[in-house]
Amino acid sequence: MIIIKEALALSNLLKKRHPGNQHIGFVPTMGALHDGHISLVKQCKLENDITVSSIFVNPTQFNNPADFEKYPITIESDIDKLEAAGCDILFLPSVTEIYPPGKPTLHYELGYLETVLEGHYRPGHFQGVCMVVDKLLSIVQPTVLYLGQKDYQQCMVISKLVELKNFNTAIRISETIRETDGLAMSSRNVRLNEQERIQALFIYKAMIMVKNEMKPGKLGALKEKATRFLTEHGFKVDYVDIADASNLALINDWDGRQKAVVLVAAYLHEVRLIDNLILN
Ligand code: PAF
Repeated sequence: MIIIKEALALSNLLKKRHPGNQHIGFVPTMGALHDGHISLVKQCKLENDITVSSIFVNPTQFNNPADFEKYPITIESDIDKLEAAGCDILFLPSVTEIYPPGKPTLHYELGYLETVLEGHYRPGHFQGVCMVVDKLLSIVQPTVLYLGQKDYQQCMVISKLVELKNFNTAIRISETIRETDGLAMSSRNVRLNEQERIQALFIYKAMIMVKNEMKPGKLGALKEKATRFLTEHGFKVDYVDIADASNLALINDWDGRQKAVVLVAAYLHEVRLIDNLILN
C-alpha cells in the first residue's frame, strides 16, 4: 500500500497510473478502523481496479471540541488493517493540506436534511462533512464512493453534495456491521468502559422493540416508549425518531406502507452513540 500525504501527489499519481477507463473506488474514514470500515474496503476492492482510502480526523465536523480531542487515533493498526484488506493507496493528509490557510469557507445548501436529527443536534456538523468530502472527492475523483448505513443521514447529505457539485461518482451504501450481540460497530465504541459497553446494546434493543411494535396509526407513544426504555438504561437521549427512509421526513402517523427507518442518538456519559434500523 502506498501512503500519500499530499493532495497534489495523490491526484497526479491517480491520473498517471490510472487513466479514465479504470475504476477508482474510495473509502473515506476518520481512522480508528473497525470491521465496518474494513468490509467497505473489501467490497471496494472487489468492484474496482484501484482502492483508495483516506484517514483524516476532520476538525470542521466536530461541533463539540471535547469529542474531537477524545476521538480515538490508532494510525499504526489502521495502516496494518488497510494493508491486510488489500487497500492500494492510503491518503493521510494534514489539516493544512485539506484546509489551506486563507481559503474561503464554502456553504452547502443542504435544506431540510440539515434541520432534523443530527442536523438539529449537531449544528454545523454536516457543513463540516461536506467541506471535507467535497475536497476529498475533488482530489480522488472516484468512480464509486463507499459509505456505511450506520451514518444514515450522512449518506443522504453526501448524496446531496455529489448532486450539488456534479461529481461523476456513484455512491454505494453498505449495511451496518454489528457485533455478535447487535451493537453497531463504531470508532467511538472504544471509549466505552465495560459497564457502558453492556448498556450500549440497549440502543439496538430499543430499535428492535420499535420494529416489532410499530403498527399503522400514530407513532408518538411508541417513540416515547423507546425513549423511556433508553433513559431507564442510563442514556441521555437526543432523539428516537421514525422517518421516511427515502428522505428523512419525520413520520408521526404511519400508513402501514411508507418505507420507514428508526434513528437513535443517545449519550452514555460522555460518549454519543447513533444507530438506525430499516423498519419494513
Ligand atoms: O463517516 C466518517 O468517518 C466521516 O464523517 C467522513 C465521511 C470520513 C468525513 O470526514
